[in-house]
Amino acid sequence: MKLLAIETSCDDTGLAVLEVTESAGKPVFSVLTSELSSQTIHTNYGGVFPMMAKREHVTNFPILLEKIFSGPGTDPGSVHVSSDQETQISDMLSHEPELATSLIAYVRAHTKPDIDAITVTVGPGLEPALWVGINAAKTLAILWDLPLVPVNHMEGHILSVLFLGDQATGIQPIADVAFPAIALLVSGGHTELVLVRDWMEYELIGQTRDDAAGEAFDKVARLMGLPYPGGPEISRLAASAEGESEEIELPRPMLHSDDYDFSFSGLKTAVRYLVQRMPQPLDDQTKAQVANEFQQAVIDVLATKTMKALEAYGAQTLIVGGGVSGNQELRTQLTEKASELLDESRILFPKRELSTDNAIMIGIAGYFRFKAGNLPEPETLRAIGSLEL
Ligand code: KG4
Ligand code: ZN
Repeated sequence: MKLLAIETSCDDTGLAVLEVTESAGKPVFSVLTSELSSQTIHTNYGGVFPMMAKREHVTNFPILLEKIFSGPGTDPGSVHVSSDQETQISDMLSHEPELATSLIAYVRAHTKPDIDAITVTVGPGLEPALWVGINAAKTLAILWDLPLVPVNHMEGHILSVLFLGDQATGIQPIADVAFPAIALLVSGGHTELVLVRDWMEYELIGQTRDDAAGEAFDKVARLMGLPYPGGPEISRLAASAEGESEEIELPRPMLHSDDYDFSFSGLKTAVRYLVQRMPQPLDDQTKAQVANEFQQAVIDVLATKTMKALEAYGAQTLIVGGGVSGNQELRTQLTEKASELLDESRILFPKRELSTDNAIMIGIAGYFRFKAGNLPEPETLRAIGSLEL
């Protein structure tokens, strides 16, 4: 089967077409096309503004749609859009009239693509941003008469580790995952430890009580004058640190607390005070050492709690997903620690380009949800900002 996957939960507009075949009872994924547009507009604001993100998605969506289906060609009139349907779509997209107009025009001007279902992120995320993808998906599902599969963004991050292949070559094997697994999900909006008993059977065992790990990277970057997103900037800066300084010491919040929760807001404040105490302006080496110590503090708490969960639940596999899982130091140190308990082949990170938001992981989750059946009517899909696993 072929799936169109749509992701718009934060500041990345992602569209992908996945083909799924089965080999020895296991799905094999190949990515036929994938387009991602990361909104650069937020760079100078230090974070993402929901209404700004929404406007960008509305602008980007039709452009990506045009790119993703360049194959089937144009055939005006081959898909008939009745005036009743046009009214239905305009009502449904009353907050995004320009999106309704461009999608209807697109459908009228093109042949129906060779796909069997559409899958879209419905939460968690920024609701105004989520609605753009959901409304676009509903419109296309109605006009092309296709099933619509809602996906939880965090399930997408978990399943992102299943995609092992290289996008260009096509055939992708699925990982053999032994359960139970522990998933550490670290993104801009979430920091969670999840017990995965089986695919689609999740239990949240711990989470952040305030800021997410990625959010802490973004805020610390901002106070050090670095652009958004801060994660890659901080890790680059940290890599240039030479040696350690005794004055540059930060707390490891909740390191020994008797649970699987996290807290990063105090760490960010500690960085602010530390920086304020130092002679201004900071020289490059001092900045690098602060970045390095901050990154290490985050890694220490993430790794300690993850190890504790792996042991307590007798986990057979460790899955790490979300934007922060792209951090090389986190990958190295978590792998080193977890390999005391697990074979390295059972420590799963997504391919680097799949650690941050993308539509491919939504397509993989959508496939599993499609197979599970029980799909809602397209008209009933809603954005749920705080959707849980
Ligand atoms: O998963 P994601 O793309 O979006 C959300 O679902 O939130 O994660 C984005 C977050 C941002 O906060 C970004 O700063 C962080 O992931 N991030 C990183 C790295 N790359 C992205 N944090 C630390 N190190 C990185 N290399
Ligand atoms: Zn994400």
